[in-house]
Amino acid sequence: MNQPDRNAPLDLPPDTFRALGHQLVDDLADFLASLPGRSVTTGETPAEVRAAVGDLALPHEGTDPAVLLAEVTRLVIDHSTLNGHPDFLAFITSSAAPIGALGDLLASTVNPNLGGWPLAPVATEIERQTVRWIAEFLGYPSPHGLLVSGGNMANLVAFWAARRAKAPWNIRTSGAAAGPRLMVYVSKETHTWIQKAADLSGMGTEAIRWIPTDGRQRMIPSALDEAILRDRADGLHPLLVVGTAGTVSTGAVDPLAEIGALCRRHDLWFHVDGAYGAPAAALPEWADEFRGLAEADSIAIDPHKWFYTPLQAGCVLVKDMAHLRDAFSYHPPYYPEKDEAVDAALMYHEYGPENSRGFRALKVWLGFRQVGRDGFVTMIRDDIAMARRLFDRVTDHPEFEGVTQDLSIATFRYVPPDVDASDPATREYLNTLNARILDRLQESGTAYLSNAVIDEVYLLRACVVNFRTSAGRIDVLPEKIAEVGREVHQGLRHIGH
Ligand SMILES: Cc1ncc(COP(=O)(O)O)c(C=O)c1O
Repeated sequence: MNQPDRNAPLDLPPDTFRALGHQLVDDLADFLASLPGRSVTTGETPAEVRAAVGDLALPHEGTDPAVLLAEVTRLVIDHSTLNGHPDFLAFITSSAAPIGALGDLLASTVNPNLGGWPLAPVATEIERQTVRWIAEFLGYPSPHGLLVSGGNMANLVAFWAARRAKAPWNIRTSGAAAGPRLMVYVSKETHTWIQKAADLSGMGTEAIRWIPTDGRQRMIPSALDEAILRDRADGLHPLLVVGTAGTVSTGAVDPLAEIGALCRRHDLWFHVDGAYGAPAAALPEWADEFRGLAEADSIAIDPHKWFYTPLQAGCVLVKDMAHLRDAFSYHPPYYPEKDEAVDAALMYHEYGPENSRGFRALKVWLGFRQVGRDGFVTMIRDDIAMARRLFDRVTDHPEFEGVTQDLSIATFRYVPPDVDASDPATREYLNTLNARILDRLQESGTAYLSNAVIDEVYLLRACVVNFRTSAGRIDVLPEKIAEVGREVHQGLRHIGH
């Protein structure tokens, strides 16, 4: 009885699936081979991209899937910003491991739902193992945690766990306003997730104390201590401190050991946002910088950043899994009766905000299996070396000023020979010039950088989380940027800037 008794239009007969899949994989292999020779961006306007998609009405009838897949493969490849390109060095967006893409096909074809163990037996066990491997990679002593969509969600989950654990009343039932104002402490370089967390948890962004940083953009522990003491004296309730291990702008690592010691002394939750930088803790030469990471009550880390997992994969690690259950568990009657054995095996929906959960662990797990711990250590070390190399090249170049270099981020700015950067009167002009250079670079597609602003100075910023970037390409980058710089400078001078 192999004949289906229903002919659902969305189903694909296995032979059709096979033929379409083979064709798609062939096209994607060609795409990967062509990456280095492509332009990073198309430079198209939103209207042009919208026109390429076509102003289609909702289709009432279907299209031949072979025609459809051929069409959409071209559409997506030809009109995307290619973050897997060797010259893509913007934000903290990595090149994606091809094995992860194949893993995604497997994950979505079998389609387990990791909300609960019975719906995803092997997938749940793979997620549990993946989380344990991530923790082990970082040297974090607890194997507990779960995968989420990305860094923001990982930090939010930890934030909610901290709130539940450290508020002196039951915040889940009584809410944030049922006691003294809860306060959180972060460096002024902290990523914007903290505002969303304070806002969405009902504490309000005024609950955030922005602690000043030193010359390397790292939190100053004495200022943290003072802020906590002041708030306590004012009747507020300090709850949580966030140390960042790899800030988004410059890659700075806060003094984690000192922050951890302060948290213990004041009985506060110690969270580390290692969304970007935490994987560097595995490099012996960075061990000192990351001292104290193991003390954290929770850590956010993003496999889709420095483990090169295709989007999306974030991970939150906690010292004690009970903290997540305490913060998230509900057990409605329409879910199976509690079963001790299954519960111990993990019903992930009780440990985080998501209910249905996809098999994002597979693509992370496959990366670890393909290259092992040592493979990741090598790639991360190489990325850091690339960022240093770029910093050295721009510093040696007469038309650039190198400004910061930490982890795999370098910041610098273009300074034309006829502009004196030490004169404060030129700051605004240099800010405008460098912002225009960045726009021009991004539009041209020759390379893709982003920016940082430090002490009101606008900087070009390259972040290497890209296993396709090479020394040769880094070496020619400063001159490519300088060419754009000269052109933009001339244009601005012409219009009287
Ligand atoms: C330090 C830090 N935290 C959190 C995030 C947010 O991560 P995601 O974009 O995966 O949500 C980022 C993103 O760059 C980051 O650098």
